[in-house]
Amino acid sequence: MHGTMILGSQWGDEGKGKITDYFAEKADLIVRFQGGTNAGHTIVVKDEKFKFHLLPSGVLHPEKKSIIGNGVVVDPKVLIDEIENLGKKGISPNLFISERANVVMPYHKMMDVAEEKLRGKKIGTTKRGIGPCYSDKISRYGVRMIDLTDEKILKEKLKNIIPIKQKIFQAFGEDTVLSNDEILKEYLEYGKKLKKYVADTSLIIAQAFDDKKNVLLEGAQGTQLDIDHGTYPYTTSSSTTAGGGCTGSGISPLKIKNIVGVVKAYTTRVGEGPLPTELKDETGKYIRDRGGEYGTTTGRPRRCGWLDMVVVNYACRLNGFTSLAVTKIDVLSGIKKLKICKAYHYGDRIIDDFPANPGILEKCVPVCEEFNGWEEKNWKETVKKGYNALPDNMKKYLDFISFSSKVPVGIVSLGPGREETIDIK
Ligand code: GDP
Ligand code: IMO
Ligand code: MG
Repeated sequence: MHGTMILGSQWGDEGKGKITDYFAEKADLIVRFQGGTNAGHTIVVKDEKFKFHLLPSGVLHPEKKSIIGNGVVVDPKVLIDEIENLGKKGISPNLFISERANVVMPYHKMMDVAEEKLRGKKIGTTKRGIGPCYSDKISRYGVRMIDLTDEKILKEKLKNIIPIKQKIFQAFGEDTVLSNDEILKEYLEYGKKLKKYVADTSLIIAQAFDDKKNVLLEGAQGTQLDIDHGTYPYTTSSSTTAGGGCTGSGISPLKIKNIVGVVKAYTTRVGEGPLPTELKDETGKYIRDRGGEYGTTTGRPRRCGWLDMVVVNYACRLNGFTSLAVTKIDVLSGIKKLKICKAYHYGDRIIDDFPANPGILEKCVPVCEEFNGWEEKNWKETVKKGYNALPDNMKKYLDFISFSSKVPVGIVSLGPGREETIDIK
């Protein structure tokens, strides 16, 4: 396996957590490399549900090393809660947090809320302070994990940053008062609790590669939420694509041998922004209800639509997927006629490259291929019999995905549990 990356190919919530947990079985080290508590990764093990926002989905294999890389923005309070909650279940993660990872501060969360209020058009962020934290990182106002373990440095940084933030809030007409002392006290406390995990994680990963260990990188969000390549400005603030996996963990691209694109068998999106194949009808509702399509982080209903191969093929091009993991195909059971979008009609033209111009995208009408559906089955039992036992119509649907993307489908997921997974050798 060596270096394997798991990435979302759509707008997030493709089932990356489940697929990462599945691959983690064969990995020695599992790394989250971007995003923060905006992510919500759900894993089901023996009917028990685990939801992680910051911890890598490998933590359920506590004998393996879990790493929060430099590209992640860490909300220390949420992280401590996640570690403590796992502790209550008797799991103690073998965790390392990059000393270079930026920290989400209280003013980032306040700014996220204030900006959403003031923006002409809302993005529909998760309000977890992600955008403002990444902005500060790029502007070089960031507080990093290592700073939480050094009182002198943190004090000095806050002395410089807080008055600037205070002025910005005032200019925004917000009556927020930031207390330097309180923030310092709170974050030094977090530093004390997390110090034992803070490390040079890039070095740990490099060592693992030298020792011929299997390293698994777990992406958050999805390709269409990438800050550069996604449906900007309706994106998140990090690099969710393959390149981000290298910068966000401090490893060479040459180390990555497999890049698995997680493709939900239909499309969902939470928050604002374009969604060309959106179904605002009964079918959309059917998919949402059967798929439990409500945000793991915010509980918001996810918008649902047909699978969009323009989106998936764009993700294949950007990421160089070596295989696809198709998830939640069981959810589509019972729909008589299914559609997959293969191109867009734009005026009198047919487009099959995802357009950057939101004005064009808005006017794109999906060109679809129609497929006969399949009936609901006991998927747990079907999975035991392997790929050939899948309904013919489902296999035709899957064949179209690999035909259109020119990437083989390596995994078919038919339920949230580990055992509801078919690995096509
Ligand atoms: P992530 O953010 O990409 O990790 O995905 P989420 O965890 O936010 O959303 C995926 C949801 O679908 C979770 O509740 C999973 O437990 C569930 N899930 C994952 N794979 C499957 C599948 O193949 N079938 C069904 N029915 N549910 C799945
Ligand atoms: P996982 O890892 C789905 C969306 C938000 C919003 C936009 C910007 O679970 O797939 P942000 O708070 O990041 O500034 O919000 O991005 N978003 C996600 N949508 N899954 C996620 O993560 C997401 N993380 C952010 O809804 O539209
Ligand atoms: Mg999610």
